Amino acid sequence: MLRSCAPILASALLLAAGGCGGGETSATHSREMYMQRCASCHGISADAAPPLAAAPNILAGGYEVEQVRRAIIDGRSGMPKGLLGGHDVDDIAAYIAGKGGG
Ligand code: HEC
Repeated sequence: MLRSCAPILASALLLAAGGCGGGETSATHSREMYMQRCASCHGISADAAPPLAAAPNILAGGYEVEQVRRAIIDGRSGMPKGLLGGHDVDDIAAYIAGKGGG
């Protein structure tokens, strides 16, 4: 087995991206949450088309922290609300908003 990573697809992706190495940084944690809670609709990279056609590619950039927070807390058409709570909302909002994209 590969260290202590959970044997699920998301972790395999994280491993490929360099996760599960040293200590868990906040960025690593956010990426994990993204892969588990968001990627199934929004896609796994800025270059790949999202699996759900109605969902925008939020890794490509252009989103502000507050916009991401509201989407998670309030939900959107085709996106259930409350996917994450508490600090996780702020962490992933900062993570998504940090994707400068262009
Ligand atoms: C079940 C599918 C699904 C999941 C899971 C999902 N989303 Fe979405 N999301 C959507 C769809 C569909 C839209 C487009 C809604 C619209 O056009 O009104 C959207 C829109 C968004 C937007 C844009 C909101 C805006 O104001 O334009 C953001 C930001 C977002 N999602 C973030 C996330 C994050 C972060 C997660 C993980 C915590 C997530 N989504 C999980 C389906 C999903």
